[in-house]
Amino acid sequence: MQIGIVGSGYVGTTVAACLADFGHDVMNVDIDESIVRALNDGEAPVSEPGLDALLERYAGESLFATSDYEDLVDFAPDVVFLALPTPTNDDGSIDTSIVEAGAEALGTVLADIEGHPIVVVKSTVVPGTTQDVVGPALERESGKRVGVDFGLAVNPEFLKEGSAVEDFNDPDKLVFGTDDDRALEALEAVYAPLIEEGTPVVDTDLRAAEMIKYANNAFLAAKVSLINDIGNICKEFGIDAYEVADAIGLDDRIGEQFLRSGAGWGGSCFPKDTKAIVAAAREQGYDPQLLQAAIDVNDRQPQRMLDLLDSHVDVEGERVAVLGLAFKPGTDDVRNSRAIPIIEGLQERGAEVIAYDPNVGARDNMAERFPDVEFLASASPTLSGAAAALVVTDWPEFADLDREFDLMSGNVVVDGRRIVERRDGLVYEGLTW
Ligand code: UDX
Repeated sequence: MQIGIVGSGYVGTTVAACLADFGHDVMNVDIDESIVRALNDGEAPVSEPGLDALLERYAGESLFATSDYEDLVDFAPDVVFLALPTPTNDDGSIDTSIVEAGAEALGTVLADIEGHPIVVVKSTVVPGTTQDVVGPALERESGKRVGVDFGLAVNPEFLKEGSAVEDFNDPDKLVFGTDDDRALEALEAVYAPLIEEGTPVVDTDLRAAEMIKYANNAFLAAKVSLINDIGNICKEFGIDAYEVADAIGLDDRIGEQFLRSGAGWGGSCFPKDTKAIVAAAREQGYDPQLLQAAIDVNDRQPQRMLDLLDSHVDVEGERVAVLGLAFKPGTDDVRNSRAIPIIEGLQERGAEVIAYDPNVGARDNMAERFPDVEFLASASPTLSGAAAALVVTDWPEFADLDREFDLMSGNVVVDGRRIVERRDGLVYEGLTW
């Protein structure tokens, strides 16, 4: 099939490379010339395991990138995915202007694309956006009609950073939201290799498909916040929350995943999506109290780490080490990382913050936000002379830290991820154990 993809961020690039691997011809459209150049050179604009290898194999063969929407006319796509960002507004709602602008730009060329192309929204958008914003923008600019001249569908992604290629090829489900039989058939053809392997397909309408994405992320985020809440209770009782989590995870109805209590969730999805669905619900007149509480618990976890630190040492004028900057291990992404409120809290206390993350990209990304923090290339010099250390990300290498703590001037270690071993000579505080 001929597949167009508008937007070449983390989702658009992964989808492009994986669909080329399915044997489709893919054309990426992105307004950023440097991204277009990178893709055509077979280089991923984002860091994701396996992505570079796929791009290297298919770029220039069956995968091309362009900044000119007009190129889609000759390419004659059967399906065009919109994989554009939906940033957060100040009130937590999503800003759909980028998606709308992309739909408009696509609309201008849609008029000249032959056949019955299917436009598929992959961006995370609140229920109603595809029908009320994307469809009308496409119709306005193309002069064509949804369901008559072109199809409209929603196909959310559930890819995790750090394992996006793997997740794409082994999904738990495929969600196809559309009222158009031709759009459904086209999506089934796009994903034929996965469907043949037995991946369940959820065949639903536009709005339910949009909601499924939010419900999925809201549920997982709330699960982590619930185990964090339970973990905080355990800490008050002097009980190990991890022992409790392992036991309740044996109940099939609860499940063992997403029960690691600690500093809370970050990244590009959970914080944005929970806020967006809460804001969208309130606009409908419903106040989702449990989801709001999940957000509040998440905001509180870094504060609890700082409170634990305060209970042992006054860090004013002291060096304090922060270990871990990425929002989770295996990525350079620091968006909404719990390290951000931790560093801010330390600076408010007048501490001199020294930070380390095993990923150089994560260090660089955080350095842009905190120019006055010193970022070092390994754990030892970071701990050297520090009155205290806070562990924010569960990078596996932190589990091996031992004698490095002897380099500290103090001995307080607050572990937000249960990754550092307790040992003699350290005042060790686990966040929930
Ligand atoms: C998430 C969803 O999993 C994915 O389906 C969606 O498409 C995008 O959002 P991602 O943000 O890449 O993926 O990270 P994920 O591995 O789900 O972790 C999210 C956050 O939760 C991380 O900050 C992680 O540290 C935290 N987390 C996760 C916990 O604190 N405890 C857990 O037990 C699990």
